[in-house]
Amino acid sequence: MKFVHNDLLTCPLDQHALQLDGDCLRCESGHAFDVGKQGYVNLLGAADKRSRDPGDDKEMVAARRNFLSDGHYQPIAERLTRLVEPLITRDYIIVDAGCGEGYYLQQLAAQIAVSSAWEPSMIGFDISKWAVQAATRRIATTWLVASNRNIPLAVSSVDCLLSLFGFPVFNSFQSVLKEDGRLLMVDAGPQHLVELRKVIYPEVRRSDSTILQQAYAAGFLQGETSTLQFRTAPLSQLQIHQLLSMTPHLFRATREGKERAARLDQFSVTVDVVFQWLHSGGDT
Ligand SMILES: C[S@@+](CC[C@H](N)C(=O)[O-])C[C@H]1O[C@@H](n2cnc3c(N)ncnc32)[C@H](O)[C@@H]1O
Repeated sequence: MKFVHNDLLTCPLDQHALQLDGDCLRCESGHAFDVGKQGYVNLLGAADKRSRDPGDDKEMVAARRNFLSDGHYQPIAERLTRLVEPLITRDYIIVDAGCGEGYYLQQLAAQIAVSSAWEPSMIGFDISKWAVQAATRRIATTWLVASNRNIPLAVSSVDCLLSLFGFPVFNSFQSVLKEDGRLLMVDAGPQHLVELRKVIYPEVRRSDSTILQQAYAAGFLQGETSTLQFRTAPLSQLQIHQLLSMTPHLFRATREGKERAARLDQFSVTVDVVFQWLHSGGDT
């Protein structure tokens, strides 16, 4: 495992610094965490779990991995690089919070390697061990099983946090970001997958998100916003199933809606994504 910044990691049980000691990470109170042969370390405390197998399950991870590997969301990864790359300086630290199976960090690393003068350190973590196991197969970097609610990273250590289609916990994000740190949120816009939503729901609703209000309440300051819209190539039945399986629509759609979606083939959808920068207020 390539621990790019081992000194940044903290114990999820008492927040003391972790030190590499043979095959494990240990804090001064003696809490130890095995560095798995698979290339990640599990820093999810028992209190951070809300279920026995938290986060995306094995099938959802496989669906997302296959769909993203086919390149359908590559324009999102390209826009991500365009937004993040100009910020990178020496010793820059990027953390993908809720990294899923690692597609975006892999794309970012590959694109930055071609065009940036600096090689940033990258850390990805997710609450799903299945997602993190899959991520270790994408690139060698620091992958952690961990929760947004208790991020096992030193206070004020991170330059850039990414939360793509994630479940942000703004107080934790504030705590690990440097005073001049930034958070990039990437979320679905109003037209996202609208064609598929029309098939699976009797009525397509616009969700009124309060997420930015939560961010401001935690001390974040609004930064630049940009949007990206494109249509996918026609998707096969299998790809539509994978797409549905990697979104919350899998749980929300009715049985009839899912049956209608299962009959779709060579079906193109609109991708509508909002990129929102938030600046750490540096006041927590
Ligand atoms: C919709 S997926 C997005 C994954 C990835 N960012 C992407 O866009 O491909 C949401 C991810 O958040 C993870 N997740 C859910 N709750 C979390 C938490 N409290 N802390 C960290 N990750 C969490 C899930 O396991 C899942 O991998």
